[in-house]
Amino acid sequence: MDIRIEKVAPGNLKAKPDESALGFGRHRTDHMFVMTYDEGQGWHDAAIMPYQDFALDPAAMVLHYGQAIFEGLKAYRGKDDAIFLFRPMDNLRRMSLSAERMCMPRIPEQEVCEALKTLVNIEQEWVPRAQGATLYIRPTMIATEAGLGVRPAKRYLFFIILSPVGAYYPEGFNPVSIFVTDTHVRAVPGGVGNAKTAGNYAASIRAAVEAQRQGYTQVLWLDAVHRKYVEEVGTMNIFFVLDNEVITPPLSGSILAGITRDSVLQLVRDWGRTVAERPIAIDEILTASQTGRLQEVFGTGTAAVISPVGSLYYQGQSCEVNHGRTGPLSQRLFDELQGIQYGRQPDPHNWIVRL
Ligand code: COI
Repeated sequence: MDIRIEKVAPGNLKAKPDESALGFGRHRTDHMFVMTYDEGQGWHDAAIMPYQDFALDPAAMVLHYGQAIFEGLKAYRGKDDAIFLFRPMDNLRRMSLSAERMCMPRIPEQEVCEALKTLVNIEQEWVPRAQGATLYIRPTMIATEAGLGVRPAKRYLFFIILSPVGAYYPEGFNPVSIFVTDTHVRAVPGGVGNAKTAGNYAASIRAAVEAQRQGYTQVLWLDAVHRKYVEEVGTMNIFFVLDNEVITPPLSGSILAGITRDSVLQLVRDWGRTVAERPIAIDEILTASQTGRLQEVFGTGTAAVISPVGSLYYQGQSCEVNHGRTGPLSQRLFDELQGIQYGRQPDPHNWIVRL
């Protein structure tokens, strides 16, 4: 892939934000990657250019019918200023799967990975040095053809933007409180729950707002058919430690196949723990909590990393997990994953890519 590179003049570069108060997604870097797809022509006009607004026809199909998919991954600054990516090809392969589900074109994954590395290299001064801060990478694809008929668009824009970020949750690595909703559902069998498409996140906002109003950080979704089996949390997959067994819901089609989820499963298997990917009912969790068998709950995600859950609220009942404190497995996973991601620890599964 030929990439045209147009750089911002040195005097016009943005001031870097204070790394101790980055928040999540509030700042964007100086450059972005873009390329266009036209039916019959494929992907073309790849460029790295100054970060700027897009011009879109008001009839652009993404604005009406939601053909929009995205990914999230991070660049980590390790020792000696080295910069690492974590499993970038897995994100890009997942993006192609999301594209297929949404009748959008696959991306040339290997070439996009090279483009992504070139972009991060150009923006390397934006990769934070502060502990726990990273450069969040957001590849996105939208349908840009103008038209009001409901069908797959013939024109798309793919872009990658970068944002220096701190912890996703205001709690940082401290336990979050979760509201289990049986009013709203995120995804239905046969729907698009396993595609990383914008609509899934739009569908989650109402329940998240209601949960936050009541003082909870996130929502835990139950399955849409029985309203009984745990699916995932707003922006994370979910794990339970019950009688020493590590349990997470299976990839049934309505939850996202998280890359952090997959990494955690691999690590806990490496450590010889008993692991089950099986449906788990919310009642089973509450009963386990009442009988003292529920040891830990934590979420996994690129943005959230490992996020311990300190309490769950369901149908008027609140259950505290591990006395509201971070459990030993959550802590060990956080340390191990971060150790690998920042290049401090051996990487036996070849997950990291050094720039
Ligand atoms: C990520 O973890 O990268 C996500 O996609 C979550 C995001 C919606 C904040």
